[in-house]
Amino acid sequence: MAYILGIESSCDETAASVSLDGREILSDVVYSQADIHKKYGGVVPEIASRNHILSVTQVIEEAIGKAGIQKEELDAVAVTVRPGLIGALLVGLSAAKGFAYALGKPLVPVNHLHGHIAANYIADKTLEPPFICLVASGGHSHVVEVTDYNRFTVLGATMDDAAGEAFDKVARVLGLGYPGGPAVSRCAENGQATIPFPRPIHGRDFSFSGVKTAVINYVHKAEQKGEAVCKEDVAASFQAAIVDVLTTVTVAAAKEKGMKKIALAGGVAANQCLRLSLEKAANAAGMRLYMPPLSLCTDNGAMISCAGYYAYRAGERAPLSQNAFASL
Ligand code: KG4
Ligand code: ZN
Repeated sequence: MAYILGIESSCDETAASVSLDGREILSDVVYSQADIHKKYGGVVPEIASRNHILSVTQVIEEAIGKAGIQKEELDAVAVTVRPGLIGALLVGLSAAKGFAYALGKPLVPVNHLHGHIAANYIADKTLEPPFICLVASGGHSHVVEVTDYNRFTVLGATMDDAAGEAFDKVARVLGLGYPGGPAVSRCAENGQATIPFPRPIHGRDFSFSGVKTAVINYVHKAEQKGEAVCKEDVAASFQAAIVDVLTTVTVAAAKEKGMKKIALAGGVAANQCLRLSLEKAANAAGMRLYMPPLSLCTDNGAMISCAGYYAYRAGERAPLSQNAFASL
């Protein structure tokens, strides 16, 4: 039995959670800075770092308190060390080091994307590897073969923009605000997907920058001609293009690997249209789709605690000289 404290600060959520053996979440505290970054139309890295500093200790203390344990009972401190905003990562990592050192507990490094994948273990206690996981977030879009709890192979990925990044950019072009994903999907609810935006797939990889550019060109051309743009139709058509691509590459990867289980992860996994599309495609192919509830799709500490447990169990340890890394 192991109590794992998970700490997450890679972007604009300061989060901490305590789990028992990874899958039983005893507490999950998320402080989102989204309202602070809203007025800038996106996350401002320096502002994110400063706000992590202001809240990280309180968030950790609250997570331990809500779990109903004493900090001395923790078995390990797991923390996101990559990928993400470097200053933001360093705040969570420094706090984790301080806790681990003061308590004499092991420090366990966690890859943020492994955390997103692990959200599926919390949501469905029966899920075990192997499976195919689509990880689609603001910074990354990968189709991953999860062969074991700590073994991952990237089968396909975006060649340019991440899915969430494309949502955020299109939201800006349409004047829908930040964060873009939820704003675009809300707008799309009242639109028809009638505009044929491209769906570029290159083997196992795919590309979203062309889709984004096609949306920008469509809007600009209409403006030049003095025509009104139906934002709802643009949003619905853009969303349909992204969802089609993600669904196609994910199901193709599962077929190629002979997998009967597909999981969904990352902030974009909160998209209802993607959830329905993948569910339909997985069912048609005789596969089962696993997807976390919306609260576990976007950044949180529980997923880091869960991934941290499996890394801890496998003997992964970080020294106190551990650095953070912006890249994957
Ligand atoms: O995983 P996440 O919380 O942070 C990163 O690790 O990047 O993902 C954030 C991304 C943002 O780009 C946001 O616009 C997108 O996930 N997102 C969505 C939805 N909710 C969040 N994209 C599409 N539809 C949504 N409902
Ligand atoms: Zn994330």
